[in-house]
Amino acid sequence: MSEILIAPSLLSADFAVMGEEIISMEQAGADLLHCDVMDGVFVPNITFGIKMVADMRKRTSLPLDCHLMIVEPWKYVEAFAKAGADYITVHHEACGDRLGETLQKIRACGVKAGAVINPDTPVSVLEGVLPLCDMVLLMSVFPGFGGQKYIESVTEKIGQVRKMIDESGRNILLEIDGGITVSNVGTVKSAGAEVIVAGSAVFGAPDRRAAIAALRG
Ligand code: DX5
Ligand code: ZN
Repeated sequence: MSEILIAPSLLSADFAVMGEEIISMEQAGADLLHCDVMDGVFVPNITFGIKMVADMRKRTSLPLDCHLMIVEPWKYVEAFAKAGADYITVHHEACGDRLGETLQKIRACGVKAGAVINPDTPVSVLEGVLPLCDMVLLMSVFPGFGGQKYIESVTEKIGQVRKMIDESGRNILLEIDGGITVSNVGTVKSAGAEVIVAGSAVFGAPDRRAAIAALRG
């Protein structure tokens, strides 16, 4: 099993002082910064977009893990790449039969590409696109808001995707996002996840460094 990477979700940050929040996450030991981009159409919430990612890029050398919760994400891949994204992940539910093409486009921009599936989407939709992925992101809540409860049935899917990745022999990171806490992170890691996204569990903690250390285990 490879090392565990912790990706605090900036959705739980104070957007009015994002620069300070990023520095706080660096000091707390974050491995990646998870940037939740929401358009109010694909999900019932709106966050930030390309300019915010470009401005974050100037403040940190941590990898920016951009989770696009937007419709027609292929239209914005190039702009997020230019803004300085290190990973761009796109939803099967937003791309439909354009998922493979969108992943290829991300890679063509020199960015690591990831496919995301919602909690009720079967892992079989990933089979055809796995060779185009540097990362697979499994949602363990329905996307849109931080602070939701982990959906238990996703644990089995982590195991299934772990097996798919291992059998492929490819170097693909398995990321999990939504409702991860110190209480359930052990289960998620044992099932095979290696990149742990956590919003409220990190930003809401009195000691953010201790929270990240505890999630890493
Ligand atoms: C949900 C986002 C998540 C979320 C995680 O739509 O994709 O990244 O911010 O937050 P917590 O860890 O609080 O569930
Ligand atoms: Zn996310």
